[in-house]
Amino acid sequence: MTSRTFSTALAVALGLTLAACGGSKSDNAGAGTASGTAAPAPTPTPAPTGDPTAKAKEIFSQRCVPCHGAEGKGDGVASKGLTPPPRNFGDPAWQASVTDEHIEKIIHYGGAAVGKAPTMPANPDLSDPAVLAALRAHVRSLGGK
Ligand code: HEC
Repeated sequence: MTSRTFSTALAVALGLTLAACGGSKSDNAGAGTASGTAAPAPTPTPAPTGDPTAKAKEIFSQRCVPCHGAEGKGDGVASKGLTPPPRNFGDPAWQASVTDEHIEKIIHYGGAAVGKAPTMPANPDLSDPAVLAALRAHVRSLGGK
């Protein structure tokens, strides 16, 4: 077992606390090691199981597309009237200006937690670091990488 596999499994097992403290620096979009047939989940959190990348795509289309749009251009149906509007994830200058950590943090804790608009909602239930990383990777992929 690699150390990353181990730390991922550990983080998943322990719930969000480790992740929230920035334990995972993984650049990995979700080479799903967390699929978990083995470990019985010790936490009551309905942590997503299965492939984090697939989970992230599902979450993105359910929760993010309404504001950010399917392509992340900030043109979702619910984006009208938001001030400031959701930005275009396809903008390379924006992509270059934000860290992975920032993206994961705003997804988890919401805009207000990072000095952005509170209209960007928090997703406190997304406590699986692998899923957060996969969502961040999805946002990065919309940058045209
Ligand atoms: C209710 C509408 C809404 C929903 C739903 C929403 N967002 Fe946002 N999001 C926003 C707005 C508005 C901003 C712009 C905030 C700002 O620039 O101050 C934003 C900003 C962002 C940013 C950029 C932060 C930055 O530093 O510029 C990211 C990344 C992001 N959202 C990801 C997501 C993801 C991933 C989801 C789904 C889990 C999501 N958002 C769901 C409205 C939304």
